[in-house]
Amino acid sequence: MQKLELKIAYEEYASEAELEEKEKYLLQQAKQAVSGAYAPYSKFNVGAAVLLKNGEVIIGNNQENAASPSGLCAERVAVFAAGANHPSIAIEAIAITCKTNRFNVNEPIMPCGDCRQALLEYELRHESKIKLVLMGETGIIRVIESVSDLLPFVFNGKGLSK
Ligand code: THU
Repeated sequence: MQKLELKIAYEEYASEAELEEKEKYLLQQAKQAVSGAYAPYSKFNVGAAVLLKNGEVIIGNNQENAASPSGLCAERVAVFAAGANHPSIAIEAIAITCKTNRFNVNEPIMPCGDCRQALLEYELRHESKIKLVLMGETGIIRVIESVSDLLPFVFNGKGLSK
């Protein structure tokens, strides 16, 4: 028997002012995207902004549905739009943020498991890490270098054939 350990490194910033310009700008785009969310059921609005390697930014926000599984998280709306419109361009980073009128979200929003799997597909597809910039409505900003840090031992396409 062998006991092994996994560790992840990440950064936390006290305010947006501390971020690099690129990350600051991307987070601002995600904040703007929050206002386009369609979340009448949860009243929890999420915005995401994807930065492509060519500098273009694609936004997404959560789109809910009365039949709840038919809706989609902001991250997947954004990343699928990027994949659909720019299939050959790698993704450099994604900023995610949220707002609800029910309470103050004072800690970074973390992508759900389905979104981690979906985002990681694009890292693997383009063999290029996607940085995560995560913030609530207020509070600190968490920056994680790669989606794979949040989903170790992923099931990937290699598992589909011998
Ligand atoms: N949601 C996202 O859009 N992204 C996340 O990372 C977590 C949750 C959405 C789904 C649903 O519309 C609402 O937030 C409440 O779960």
